[in-house]
Amino acid sequence: MDVQAVATQPFSGQKPGTSGLRKKVDVFQQPHYLANFVQAIVNALPAGQRRRLVVGGDGRYFNDQAIQLILEILVANGIAEVLVGADGLLSTPAVSNLIRQSKADGGIVLSASHNPGGPGKDFGIKFNNASGSPAPESVTDAIYHQTQSITEYRRVELPAVKLAVGSQYRFLETTIKVVDSVADYAALMQQLFDFDRIKSAIAGGSLDLCFDAMHAVTGPYARRIFGDLLGVDPVQLRNCTALADFGGGHPDPNRVYARDLYEFMMTEQAPPLGAASDGDGDRNMIVGRGAFVSPSDSLALIAQHHTSIPQFAAGLKGVARSMPTSTALDRVAQSLNLPCYETPTGWKFFGNLLDDGLVRLCGEESFGTSGDHVREKDGVWTVLCWLSILADRRQSVADLLRQHWTEFGRSYYCRHDYEGLPPDQAQETLEQVLSQRDSLIGSRCGSMTVADVNVFSYQDPVDGSVADNQGVRVIFDDESRVVYRLSGTGTDAATVRVYLEQIERESTRQGQDAIVYNEVLGRFANHIAAIEARTGMAEPTVKT
Ligand code: G1P
Ligand code: ZN
Repeated sequence: MDVQAVATQPFSGQKPGTSGLRKKVDVFQQPHYLANFVQAIVNALPAGQRRRLVVGGDGRYFNDQAIQLILEILVANGIAEVLVGADGLLSTPAVSNLIRQSKADGGIVLSASHNPGGPGKDFGIKFNNASGSPAPESVTDAIYHQTQSITEYRRVELPAVKLAVGSQYRFLETTIKVVDSVADYAALMQQLFDFDRIKSAIAGGSLDLCFDAMHAVTGPYARRIFGDLLGVDPVQLRNCTALADFGGGHPDPNRVYARDLYEFMMTEQAPPLGAASDGDGDRNMIVGRGAFVSPSDSLALIAQHHTSIPQFAAGLKGVARSMPTSTALDRVAQSLNLPCYETPTGWKFFGNLLDDGLVRLCGEESFGTSGDHVREKDGVWTVLCWLSILADRRQSVADLLRQHWTEFGRSYYCRHDYEGLPPDQAQETLEQVLSQRDSLIGSRCGSMTVADVNVFSYQDPVDGSVADNQGVRVIFDDESRVVYRLSGTGTDAATVRVYLEQIERESTRQGQDAIVYNEVLGRFANHIAAIEARTGMAEPTVKT
């Protein structure tokens, strides 16, 4: 078994985005493309951090071939131990947990999250550090730098490595261990939540769940945790067989792509709680019977009811949200007398805050929430938070929402995505808003007056690093907002995301549909950025 030094050349465009390197799968299937990137990850790892790495993916098309190649490169580079999920499967939060539990130096996650999978669809790879967190920008910059100057990668040709649970292999200096994809993660959940309590509420008929795994990686996690351990009827666990193309769907848990679950939850037959998760298991959607919970509200309500969740029995210390996420969390934090941090979009920005114990709960408007137990957002965990709250409070989701809005005001929140734009046009919309700053200030949308227009930049309170240019904000006198930013996860054309938040403090006006409520503000946002004038798009492609 010989280590080969394979001559190669840099590919352009291997710069990681919001969440790693995402491209069409045929880009990854080109000779050397993936190998270059994996070698760049290894090259960027300090010599003392090549002891143990975790590897797993969401099972999408090309997962198997990618893992075989990654193992060949890691063996050739003399990594002492590699832990791989059985069949190459690990949800993103499970990778994060396994890195932490096994005290690994990091991990490689294969996923394009909620983007479709299959031939011609999307694939992705990212590196997580020793705390289980997506690598911070200093590390992704170092990896990118390596990809630009790479001249060779190391590889050994291995026989097809069968990833059956419990298997162990030794090649050259490397041991490869194949671990159960679910067991460690399920054990962690059992430590964090009161399973007996949830289970007896389900057995007693006062609580129940319908979960949609969207044919993605959380299927086996849902069967084990919700089915075997908590006693949810298997017929309520939908689409739990993981498929390489996610059944042809978009494994994105929102009202558009998880429509069947959403519609079922709006009927009389619905159980108290419905939930869905995405391709790699880090996103979640929460719906009560007749009551959709926006991700920003879900985060705020978890904070409000954190004493119902055993993990947070000692208190929250602090909380964090990404900048475009609604300010509902801030109002709860204020009432609990907790610091609330505002970070740029992308889970990696929560890493330092969690590592330093400044916060214990974080979330993003893009259907992501998690605690300090891992360093990724965590879909199944969020469902367990809601089951805990419902088992403890004995109120419906709809009642909990109403109560929250009455006490804290309602942030009517939605996001308008304008997809498929030429990158220049997308960038120009943001510049358009900024260039109008002086005339916008003082102008009105309905009863609201623009108080400020600015660009968000962030200084990490732990290491002092600065992230500039993280979105353009139009802020009204009543704290309502429009935020514009460009997506950093797309695999082809550009997407402008427009985030709309209006705060309604009057309880008699809190019961409307958020998408309808935000129509006028959405048109205002389109107009001041000249989106229609520039692109011809009067309406966004997707409203969530
Ligand atoms: C999107 C979301 C962001 C999330 C990321 C990864 O990134 O907006 O909150 O962290 O996916 O799931 P974007 O495409 O907006 O850069
Ligand atoms: Zn995801």
